[in-house]
Amino acid sequence: MKIKVFEGGYDQNFSYLIWCPIKKIASIVDPSVEIDIILAEIKHNNLRLDSIFITHSHHDHIVYLNDFIDIFSHISIYINHKTKLTHPLIFHIKNNEKIKVGREIITCLSTPGHFYDSMCFWNEKSKILFTGDTVFVGRTGRVVSHKSNIQDLYNSVYNIILKLPPNTIIYPGHNYGIKKQISIKENIHISDFFKSKDLEEFIETMQKYEKNR
Ligand SMILES: [Fe+2]
Repeated sequence: MKIKVFEGGYDQNFSYLIWCPIKKIASIVDPSVEIDIILAEIKHNNLRLDSIFITHSHHDHIVYLNDFIDIFSHISIYINHKTKLTHPLIFHIKNNEKIKVGREIITCLSTPGHFYDSMCFWNEKSKILFTGDTVFVGRTGRVVSHKSNIQDLYNSVYNIILKLPPNTIIYPGHNYGIKKQISIKENIHISDFFKSKDLEEFIETMQKYEKNR
């Protein structure tokens, strides 16, 4: 799978253009960055944009969704079925559902916690995981929304994400870390957020972080 990274939007957001190099079919992960530069890249690579994956419905991650819908009137939009977001082009997806982008397969992993409708998107073959605001480089997402839940976040991080192969590369929703992407293995190495022995220790780490920020 090919990836082009775009940064911008509200708060160092990342938007990703991904595509199958054989079929030239493309998708967006989070329409969170001004779209002109993405459209130019789609054209430059002769791609057909078929779909959009949304990591969660926080406003900064979907702010340019309508701009894409205006141009690509038959696009498929994939988001966690738990969401309140509706639109005729939206498909509500369940945990472990697999979606094709050309010949590439994206496995959708429901990872609530930072927000109730958070989802990660995994391309096993290329060892890539789009984590939205569930995991960043160096820490997890925060649980300060009214639909956040720290126990859910712990479960999503420790029982889903950290169980993936350690050489999986994390592509997060914001550029908040020491670099743009990181392997799961290295993220555990550099951050206490990923070293908790249980939920209580994770809660302590989160509380310490919130107090010092
Ligand atoms: Fe968020």
